[in-house]
Amino acid sequence: MNYKNALDHSIFKIISKSAQELQIDAYVIGGFVRDFLLKRGNPKDIDIVAVGSGIELARQVAQNLPNKPKVQVFKTYGTAMLRFEDIEIEFVGARKESYNENSRNPIVENGTLEDDQNRRDFTINALALSLNKSSYGDLLDPFQGELDLEHKIIRTPLDPDITYSDDPLRMMRAVRFATQLGFTIDSKSLDSISKNNHRIEIITKERIVVELHKILESPKPSIGFLLLEQTGLLNQILPELTALKGIDEIEGQRHKDNFYHTLEVVDNISKNTDNVWLRWAALLHDIGKAPTKRFHKKIGWTFHAHEFEGSKMVYRLFKRLKMPLNDKMKFVQKMVFMSSRPIALADDIATDSAVRRLVFDAGDNVEELMILCEADITTKNIKKYKKYHENFKNVRDKIVEVEERDQVRNFQPPVSGEEIMETFGLKPSREIGTIKESIKEAILEGDIPNEYEAAFQLMLEEGRRLGLTRVTTDK
Ligand code: CTP
Repeated sequence: MNYKNALDHSIFKIISKSAQELQIDAYVIGGFVRDFLLKRGNPKDIDIVAVGSGIELARQVAQNLPNKPKVQVFKTYGTAMLRFEDIEIEFVGARKESYNENSRNPIVENGTLEDDQNRRDFTINALALSLNKSSYGDLLDPFQGELDLEHKIIRTPLDPDITYSDDPLRMMRAVRFATQLGFTIDSKSLDSISKNNHRIEIITKERIVVELHKILESPKPSIGFLLLEQTGLLNQILPELTALKGIDEIEGQRHKDNFYHTLEVVDNISKNTDNVWLRWAALLHDIGKAPTKRFHKKIGWTFHAHEFEGSKMVYRLFKRLKMPLNDKMKFVQKMVFMSSRPIALADDIATDSAVRRLVFDAGDNVEELMILCEADITTKNIKKYKKYHENFKNVRDKIVEVEERDQVRNFQPPVSGEEIMETFGLKPSREIGTIKESIKEAILEGDIPNEYEAAFQLMLEEGRRLGLTRVTTDK
């Protein structure tokens, strides 16, 4: 087949001309070709393989480009990169890689295009388009990758045991592509991943997290998490999730399988948000349930304070996976910690004060929290499902109302600690905290409006109750 039309962009003409000047062959390979055949939108990067030096080709291309971009060379890998417009172009020399059994270091030799295609991860990623003058646009597809694209199959060019042992991250990539593209992993590959899952331990956490993010960013992340679970990878990477699997039954009382419930929540939330951290929160919202699970004769199964336990586990999990321990992590912790709050409101008609407290505690994240809690409704009982959603709608309306009236989001105490000290001639002391807390409580309960005058009067009252004497004069 010829796909000249894939190579309309002027950059390909320039690479072709540059390769000709160096008298070497060059091909576009990998994601660009795959995504073109899948009609998958604009490419952000292009991989070029040169049958010769990739670095020299990159330099020649840079010379031929009008803006003469800088070439970034990665000597250890024998690759080079340059940017043109907003596209990253990566150059590599075709390689034949054989692995020395006693060491993990590949013996890298120059190879043919086919040698290079052999050592790539999947048949659908080994597709190459010729940039050579006589065959410009010809598809080079030694492993029927085009057919695999059509049949939606993830398959390795070589025996999967070899491909995955060359780079065990590919086990995660197989799952990631299956999730992103809605493809099936070939059964030989699946068996090989299950057999070799422990080898993921040699991969850096950062690379693993990149794949996890891509799975979570997919339209239906459960596809990936089910595959990770099925192949035993999940237990190595996120044992907190596999610990949620299973249903226990004692004296005829059962609890739901929190693993499958979690995956449903993640799929639900993915329809309503692209915020990957909120999707993380959905994935982790119940992890505290495994360590807090108890059975009580009278009340059945409980997961007491699982939200608190879960939020502590988020920190340990992020740390282990070398994820950022910054405001993103804190956001996930907060969402996990608060994940049951609106649900408590959805059981009944929410009171104003309960909603005010929710807005007060969630602050700027109240909308995200509502999205999480709506996604958490996975009951198969249609009546209950409707009731919860209706009640949540009511909570949402009340949030708007309470916000307009009381402004408790990012609450600032209407009477400051300093004013309390001045009024009663106090030095910093416990009484100030007590008075401030009473004012805050009264506002949240709706006993007084969130206004200065009412708060000032309450302060005076509280001061009297505590036996304090006012030292300032009436205003
Ligand atoms: N590749 C590989 N093994 C890896 C990583 C990459 O064989 N562990 C090869 C594949 O041929 C892949 C190409 O290198 O197509 C480029 O890799 P990368 O940019 O990571 O992936 P893309 O296929 O371009 O897909 P995406 O951009 O969606 O990640």
